Amino acid sequence: MIQRFQSISVFTKEPYKKILAFPKPKDSEIKKRIMELEKLGVSHVSFTGPLQIERCQILGKGYVGMVVLAKKDGGLVALKIRRIDSPRKNMSNEAKLLKIANKSGIGPRFIKNSKNFLVMEYVDGEKIIDWAKKSETKSEEMRSVLNNILRECYLLDDAGLDHGELSTIDKHVIIQKNRNTIIDFESSSIDRKTSNVSGAAQAIFIGTGLAKIVQKKIKLPSKTKIINLIRQYKKNPTLENFEKITVGLKLQKPGKFLKAVSALSKDKKLESIVKKIGPCTMRITKNPYQTLVEAIIYQQLSEASATAITKRFLKIYGKFPTAKQVAVTSNKKLKYAGLSGTKINYIKGLSKQVLKKEIMFANIAKLDDEQVTEELTKIKGIGNWTAQIYLMFCLQRKDILPVDDLGIKKGIMELFSLKKLPDPKTVEKFAARWKPNRSIACWYIWKNQRINAIG
Ligand SMILES: Nc1ncnc2c1ncn2[C@@H]1O[C@H](COP(=O)(O)OP(=O)(O)O)[C@@H](O)[C@H]1O
Ligand SMILES: [Mg+2]
Repeated sequence: MIQRFQSISVFTKEPYKKILAFPKPKDSEIKKRIMELEKLGVSHVSFTGPLQIERCQILGKGYVGMVVLAKKDGGLVALKIRRIDSPRKNMSNEAKLLKIANKSGIGPRFIKNSKNFLVMEYVDGEKIIDWAKKSETKSEEMRSVLNNILRECYLLDDAGLDHGELSTIDKHVIIQKNRNTIIDFESSSIDRKTSNVSGAAQAIFIGTGLAKIVQKKIKLPSKTKIINLIRQYKKNPTLENFEKITVGLKLQKPGKFLKAVSALSKDKKLESIVKKIGPCTMRITKNPYQTLVEAIIYQQLSEASATAITKRFLKIYGKFPTAKQVAVTSNKKLKYAGLSGTKINYIKGLSKQVLKKEIMFANIAKLDDEQVTEELTKIKGIGNWTAQIYLMFCLQRKDILPVDDLGIKKGIMELFSLKKLPDPKTVEKFAARWKPNRSIACWYIWKNQRINAIG
């Protein structure tokens, strides 16, 4: 989209006047509104966008406002201009409601407002219906996006904010590359019973229009089943009943550790994270040898470099190698994959011990958490952290707390508003409330920081 910006004084001219004071601009009103824009710090406007009104291209039009692309303090913003004939007297109520939605991480970010204007984050994407129609939109992506949209609806329900217009969802969700955004909180309310999930689910899966397109791309259960799931949630809008919808419609896989997740979703500190992320889909690494090798590769590296090295390491063999294969690989090849000399020694040492049956994973699995750590840390290159990762992801022990993990330290610092990164003892103290489900709590803390490599 070409964005040619013009000073806001362009609004004094035809045909732009009409956009600033739709549908019947009076000169006195135009003058007032330009001053109001100056006060807001909006300096430029661009007539670009998918909709043509009065020979101007704009981002969109509704009953309340005309939305144009603008510049404030040098940054791109979306400017919603109150129509003269709008039933709303000012934009302050919409601003208030958008701020409430933002608190749950939903909607375009609120920036500023005045009587006739709402300045917000510019959401550059396409309408959900156009996105759904495209042949490039495949079923897997569609499931994931629809899951995200419903999840945001659930967060709104949970926050007690009813959007009010989600039954016409095709006008109120914008799809971007890695995100989707619910827009227009003009008709929202905190005083009504919420019906975000039920309204949106009806519109997406059962109605006409969008639903017909969705039904063509993803296989859905029968209408009766969908309606029953929605009804059950409506009766009792808990997280569990919500997940029954997303899982029942196959938008996502069923989660693990349901009881633990349910307990953590009631914890004041983790509640919002669990609700945002949804079911625990922790990856279980069944191959003990692989878990340890990957953990060694991961040590002290960022997620990006660890992933890149693991990929090159795999490339040597085609699929994940056996201890025997690694033991006979030249150091040169391993170095070429990006492994440091120290890590090569660790990995080879481990491989040899496994070959000689000095390490018997089946026996280790029978030990309790502490004994496992004791056994594993005897191996060169394996410290507490690696042993804990092993306990969590390979043995699926539910109450492990990797006190030295940077992601966990950062997570605890943020959750408890600490001034500096906590030391292991402090981590232990703050995480005690998540016993006996600390592994699962950690998984949510990692996921919340978008740390995916770990599982
Ligand atoms: N933040 C935004 N970024 C990009 N486009 C937007 C944004 N907000 C609204 N739009 C576009 O403008 C149209 C009208 O906005 P909306 O808030 O729905 O107005 P109304 O309250 O009058 O219905 C939307 O359908 C959308 O296409
Ligand atoms: Mg609207």
